[in-house]
Amino acid sequence: MPAPASDKATTVRIPGIEADDDSLETDGSWVYIETRGTPIFDEDRKVVQCVYGSRDISERKKAEELLLRTEKLSIVGQMAAGVAHEFRNPLTSSKGIAQLLHRGNEKPEYIELILSEVRRLEAILWGFLTLAKPQAPKLKEVDAEVVLQQAVLILSTQSILNKIDIIEEHDSEVPRIYCDENQIKQVFINILQNAVDAMPNGGIIKTQILSHNSEYIKFRFIDHGIGISAERIKSIGEPFYSSKEKGTGLGLMLSNKIVHEHGGSIHIESTVNEGTIVDVILPIYSSFLKRD
Ligand SMILES: Nc1ncnc2c1ncn2[C@@H]1O[C@H](COP(=O)(O)OP(=O)(O)OP(=O)(O)O)[C@@H](O)[C@H]1O
Ligand SMILES: [Mg+2]
Repeated sequence: MPAPASDKATTVRIPGIEADDDSLETDGSWVYIETRGTPIFDEDRKVVQCVYGSRDISERKKAEELLLRTEKLSIVGQMAAGVAHEFRNPLTSSKGIAQLLHRGNEKPEYIELILSEVRRLEAILWGFLTLAKPQAPKLKEVDAEVVLQQAVLILSTQSILNKIDIIEEHDSEVPRIYCDENQIKQVFINILQNAVDAMPNGGIIKTQILSHNSEYIKFRFIDHGIGISAERIKSIGEPFYSSKEKGTGLGLMLSNKIVHEHGGSIHIESTVNEGTIVDVILPIYSSFLKRD
């Protein structure tokens, strides 16, 4: 059996054997044997002997394989829940608009809305498919204000229904950012959706675009909702951490991932019964140019 004369171990797989009084037969199983060899030197540092020790590590192998399979399964589960989460909003709004059309409420902008939601579904699907085979996000120079406005628009019907006003505040000169527009829009939608969910009695949500420093821009989302306790805030962003009956608890996890991939960060401050401030900090376009 090959084995190294060093501290390194060699593992071989051999057929399992069933032995009775007068015969030895393979039993269809496999046994993993780990062999370790230790050299013995004479006074001139020459190897004079090797001592080999072998042991059956089949149980450890089985446990390792099981762990690997469980990890793979949980990643598949997380991905499936992620797809469901991202698909839910565009599907709900398309269904609502289709129902309006069905009742004879025909308006040309309804068709355009459905088409834009379907395009978003396609983009999300593409995003998830490329998760398995990661690719760089499709970065381009965009107007930060427009991306935020589009997210606010998507949430507008829901906020009106919940008696919530979304007020946008920003400087006259908003720098451009370098990002995957659909991904960053999704982040803003997730954060605004959380703010709407946190204000069951209505009120005001403010969005601000602020200069963070010479290289970064800050998108601030302020709500006056139920808030998050100091103890719970530690778990926010962990997969499946949700206080909502229909929440997947993936919104902030996916948002964090997207923002980090763009070289930015998300910060949350909150006081119970007073409200929450979420900051999304992203590099501005000119700081990207400097890096190249
Ligand atoms: N603005 C907020 N105010 C109060 N609680 C919040 C706010 N944002 C997030 N949370 C808390 O963080 C949890 C995790 O948020 P996340 O967006 O990751 O998932 P979710 O909103 O529960 O589920 P989903 O995003 O699938 O609807 C929420 O369930 C909620 O308890
Ligand atoms: Mg959410």
